[in-house]
Amino acid sequence: MTTTANVTGNDRAVVTRQHMLIGGEWVDAVSGETSESINPYSGRAWAQVPVAGAEDVDRAVKQARAALDGVWGQTSALDRGRMIRRLSALIAENAEALAEAETTDNGKLLREMRSQMKSLPDWFDYFAGLADKNEGTTPPDPKPNMFAYTRREPVGVVGAILPWNSPLLLMSMKLAPGLAAGCTFVVKPAEQTPVSTLKFAELVEKAGFPPGVINVITGAGETGRLLAAHPDVDKIAFTGSTETGIKVIKTAADHMARVTMELGGKSPNIVFADADLAAAANGVVAGIFAATGQTCVAGSRLLVQREVHDQLLELVATRARTIKMGDPLDAQTEMGPIAFREQFDKVAGYVDIARREGATVLVGGGRSPDPAHADGLFFQPTILTDVTNDMRIAQEEIFGPVLSVIPFDDEEEAIRIANDTQYGLGAGIWTNNVARSHRVAHRIKAGSVFINTYRMLGFNVPFGGFKRSGLGRENGIEAIRAYTETKSIWVNLSEETRDPFVLG
Ligand code: NAI
Ligand code: MG
Repeated sequence: MTTTANVTGNDRAVVTRQHMLIGGEWVDAVSGETSESINPYSGRAWAQVPVAGAEDVDRAVKQARAALDGVWGQTSALDRGRMIRRLSALIAENAEALAEAETTDNGKLLREMRSQMKSLPDWFDYFAGLADKNEGTTPPDPKPNMFAYTRREPVGVVGAILPWNSPLLLMSMKLAPGLAAGCTFVVKPAEQTPVSTLKFAELVEKAGFPPGVINVITGAGETGRLLAAHPDVDKIAFTGSTETGIKVIKTAADHMARVTMELGGKSPNIVFADADLAAAANGVVAGIFAATGQTCVAGSRLLVQREVHDQLLELVATRARTIKMGDPLDAQTEMGPIAFREQFDKVAGYVDIARREGATVLVGGGRSPDPAHADGLFFQPTILTDVTNDMRIAQEEIFGPVLSVIPFDDEEEAIRIANDTQYGLGAGIWTNNVARSHRVAHRIKAGSVFINTYRMLGFNVPFGGFKRSGLGRENGIEAIRAYTETKSIWVNLSEETRDPFVLG
């Protein structure tokens, strides 16, 4: 819920005072502590949110538990599906307002956030349909006179911890299957981008979910840690950095909470000499400069076959130099600012590292010199050449508009370099040779491989990481299973007494 203060004329300078949703009530933190969300385009605070502490986290978890043990637990799967569909319709009606909140929080293009918000109902509709199809099994006659069947019961109270880059999309990938499975939620958006999730929570109420089914608490890493550490949280669904993900797994392990993890990447975009180079160049730009490079599947390593290296680079560099940076709310803008100050400094720091490591800055390399960008955190589209795969800039996730270009000679070498990373989230393959495209796709260790396209995501296509890019999968039928516990039930069909000293 929003109350507005400090109106300074321009809508986007309004500071809105936000509250958390716990057990159907809009509340402040018990401590009264708040923090600000900064609009990275204007550089000004635009929202103030509570910082949840231990008591608030505990209250939210208790409310989620009460809903699970109460009215939500009694709601039929069919009715859960109906409620999820109502929420879906409300999201569609409010897509524009949600998109504007995300853009104001993190500076990503309104046109991208709009298209993300328009796709959110797909997730809810798909999983709403699965709610009453989450069937158990009846294993055929496991023993004489024994009947067994399985049930897929909700895993319980889920803590969803979100990053700042695409808050509602990444939340929906957890909420939609989890609600369909019958779970309840405590959602914690990132401290940089809390507002869209709070606006979303207003729709949850309107859709008629019982109080406590979806709670939203705000705060930074400590709030997230408290949530993951809460002994009554059954599962943590996390998206964010690998470093934090590892901490969350360790915290969750102390009370055996289940985890799904969507973490970082250093994804290769591999261009073979036999590719359509214009299409490949466009895909390379989509992979690293869309969303200002702030996406987990960013194609941050361009592996290019040596014979087309110069030609491809010319195409990519020409496009990179003409990318239109500006107000993310403007439909003409192609690249917005970096989401917040620390992230900007991190990206700039990596370009310094690149120079020290001996890479060459072919395009960009620093803050935009355009005076129109002075207030915002604008970093130029940056292309680094003379990169080898062992350099830090080729191994570590930068999470910004910085492309490292690495040449290769043949297919074997391309596969070897592509897989020489701790990550395994995405990979792009550009070639007109059908046999090669699948052959290489099968050998890349990554959760999603894109052939002659890049950065695709769909509600019914599993998504997740190999290696240190994650644990488990979101989206698709598998995703609902990740929110269930399988229970096996044995029924004795005989009325005879059996030997008590042998295993049945
Ligand atoms: P982060 O991974 O630290 O934060 C993600 C979420 O975890 C936030 O809600 C945060 O408050 C929470 N969190 C932080 N510490 C926690 C803890 N100990 N226990 C539980 N929750 C905790 O990401 P951050 O700091 O926003 O960004 C750092 C880097 O992470 C970025 O530079 C980028 O490389 C990467 N990143 C990757 C994302 C992806 O989609 N793969 C998304 C966001 C960030
Ligand atoms: Mg912000």
